[in-house]
Amino acid sequence: MRRLILLGAPGAGKGTQAQLLEKLYLIPQISTGDILRTAKQACTPLGLAAKPYMDKGLLVPDELIIGLIRERLQQEDMHQGWILDGFPRTTVQAEALDSLLNEIQQDLEGVILIDVPEAVLFDRLVGRRTCPLCKKVVHIAFNPPSPDCANPECPKQWLQREDDKPEVVPTRLQRYRAETEPLIGYYQAQGKLHTLNGDQSPDTVQKQLIALMDPPV
Ligand code: AP5
Repeated sequence: MRRLILLGAPGAGKGTQAQLLEKLYLIPQISTGDILRTAKQACTPLGLAAKPYMDKGLLVPDELIIGLIRERLQQEDMHQGWILDGFPRTTVQAEALDSLLNEIQQDLEGVILIDVPEAVLFDRLVGRRTCPLCKKVVHIAFNPPSPDCANPECPKQWLQREDDKPEVVPTRLQRYRAETEPLIGYYQAQGKLHTLNGDQSPDTVQKQLIALMDPPV
């Protein structure tokens, strides 16, 4: 499997697993959340348009995201495969992806749902920290940062995302249930869905993910 979607609630571990798979299989992770956060930080037109939605824990309008993915999937480094993390998130986005892939003659090979009980997600999100330089994701309790980051430029400063504040997290979980969960049925109907228990250690989840993919080259 070289063209896949990681599906799951906020905090399910999509980003953590996508970063590991990217290194192992040398195929790019496309995280719409990361692209939007970079645009927001740089105050680009995309970032300014997305900011009010992101800060409230709401989804950014479909048309902004679909344009972004259309452009990204056609770039040179996408030819060997891709891992979509955080896209699609609505049925409109999933239908747009199907027609884009049809147009550029690429196949979606699988959708992996990382399933985590909602009771676990809140703690994962409020305890998450990210390195502003290398974007590595850690958790203050479950996946603590190593003090010996190999990057000499690393500021060793772990930041909390705005939307991981405890007052924003419930809205994100509620939007997931209302807008993204229907995609489970959408991809089940296409025969592409695989479900993994994400309420296990990151290493165990990774081993199960690897078992679903082709052996590394
Ligand atoms: P986005 O950045 O995509 O956030 P998300 O989907 O809410 O997912 P997260 O990044 O919060 O969680 P994750 O599953 O990647 O978990 P992680 O690996 O970090 O989107 C942010 C916002 O951008 C959206 O709210 C929306 O506004 C906008 N947006 C983005 N895409 C959009 C789209 N397509 N359409 C519309 N709007 C869009 O792990 C979480 C924590 O748990 C970490 O601390 C990690 O260390 C820890 N952890 C991970 N795995 C485990 C494990 N197995 N056991 C214990 N701890 C673990």
